[in-house]
Amino acid sequence: MVSDRIVPQRVLVLFAHPALEKSRVNRVLIDGLDSMEGITFHDLYEAYPGLDIDVAREQALLTDHDVIVMHHPFFWYSTPAILKEWQDLVLQHGWAYGTDGNALRGKFLMSAVTTGGKEDAYEEDGFHGCRVRDFLLPIARTAWLCGMTYLAPFITHGTLHMTRERMAEHAADYRRLLQALREGAVDLTKAADPDLAYVNRDLSSVLPEATDAR
Ligand SMILES: Cc1cc2nc3c(=O)[nH]c(=O)nc-3n(C[C@H](O)[C@H](O)[C@H](O)COP(=O)(O)O)c2cc1C
Repeated sequence: MVSDRIVPQRVLVLFAHPALEKSRVNRVLIDGLDSMEGITFHDLYEAYPGLDIDVAREQALLTDHDVIVMHHPFFWYSTPAILKEWQDLVLQHGWAYGTDGNALRGKFLMSAVTTGGKEDAYEEDGFHGCRVRDFLLPIARTAWLCGMTYLAPFITHGTLHMTRERMAEHAADYRRLLQALREGAVDLTKAADPDLAYVNRDLSSVLPEATDAR
């Protein structure tokens, strides 16, 4: 039924956690991603412990993929430092944006974020005052500037006291989403809706039925 809209996409997960040895949740989320077919898992702190980012290598990786997932814990309402450094160095004028800067045009960008704060703390009337996706506005606008479509983020809220069972559920949802992105099976129009607070608020609404079975 969906076969005529399935076009395999090359998915790049740009992962950044500066203290992975202390991680509880992200360790579970990334477990096995490096062996998923069609997914390139790229750990930035592992590749560049001194933040000495290889710009040519990163640009080649971006060129080779259609969907870029920036995966990180939420640190001070933002990304860990290496992802900012990565943006500053890799997204060059004349390559990513500006006159003749078309290298990323037509690609998709998604954030995958873990937050200590619980879901209700990221409501407009909650403790943090707005949605996680609102804090990610600089990344969404960067995607727009580079001609990319920004998709609603995949968010794992409330990591601080999360049970192993809940972590496993989030990890299963994340894999299901990545797999569907890989298969070109995600409803990208729905996933790109700016009103969608996060894509896993109702994952079934963007995934084909078969992919949604747990
Ligand atoms: C430096 C630092 C800043 C943080 N800032 C935030 C924040 O702004 N909002 C939030 O909800 N959680 C924040 N946290 C909590 C982390 O997001 C949380 O510990 C992480 O998502 C858990 O993932 P992990 O188990 O893989 O480390 C922060 C944690 C650290 C260490």
